[in-house]
Amino acid sequence: METTIVTAKDGTKSRFRLLAQNDQSALGDFFEKLSEQTRSRFAPHPLSSEFATQLCANLLTDTTQRFVLESDGNIIGYFILQAQMSEHEALRYAQQGIILKTGDDLLFAPCIADKYQNKGFASLVMEILINHYKERVKSFVLMGGTQETNHAGRSFYKKFAFKEYGGYQTDIYNIDMRLLFG
Ligand SMILES: CC(C)(COP(=O)(O)OP(=O)(O)OC[C@H]1O[C@@H](n2cnc3c(N)ncnc32)[C@H](O)[C@@H]1OP(=O)(O)O)[C@@H](O)C(=O)NCCC(=O)NCCS
Repeated sequence: METTIVTAKDGTKSRFRLLAQNDQSALGDFFEKLSEQTRSRFAPHPLSSEFATQLCANLLTDTTQRFVLESDGNIIGYFILQAQMSEHEALRYAQQGIILKTGDDLLFAPCIADKYQNKGFASLVMEILINHYKERVKSFVLMGGTQETNHAGRSFYKKFAFKEYGGYQTDIYNIDMRLLFG
């Protein structure tokens, strides 16, 4: 996918593009600076400099698509689209009669740096991702669902026509959400 310049509601510009091998330091900073509040909502993998280094070093063999929003050399957003279906999601959706498949259904997880949240960045990215993937895959499935108490997150996904598919309990209650194309 080509690099796209997006402009937030406050005029801040950012480049939306694939994660690159030389992003390790900027991605590490992005992970390390995430607040406890954001970490409590977004935890697909360790959010550390060490993990950023590993991700960037392994990009050539990574089957997951990772995108970033970059502004003035800083990473301000990170978006995961994982083609490899996870057993957890497959089992939960199977209980509702829905068969999720590697390649057909992408696991999706977005995160915006704290001070850039609610400026419209993720909405701009969703439009790009939906336009790109709607003819290529069957659905986006929220990785791990979203926490029941994440009202802003749930409204955000509903704005893009994600539907709720029941929930499951960990130490908190989570709602599964999926955007079905076509
Ligand atoms: C969820 C997240 C990715 C959204 O990105 P963002 O760039 O802040 O989102 P946008 O500014 O494009 O859109 C914000 C939308 O959230 C919703 N929203 C925000 N605050 C809200 C509130 N107080 N009540 C209800 N809805 C709210 C609205 O749908 C809003 O859209 P609108 O401005 O058109 O009404 C981002 O806030 C984030 O990273 N949060 C922390 C981590 C997280 O929750 N990740 C998702 C885990 S499932």
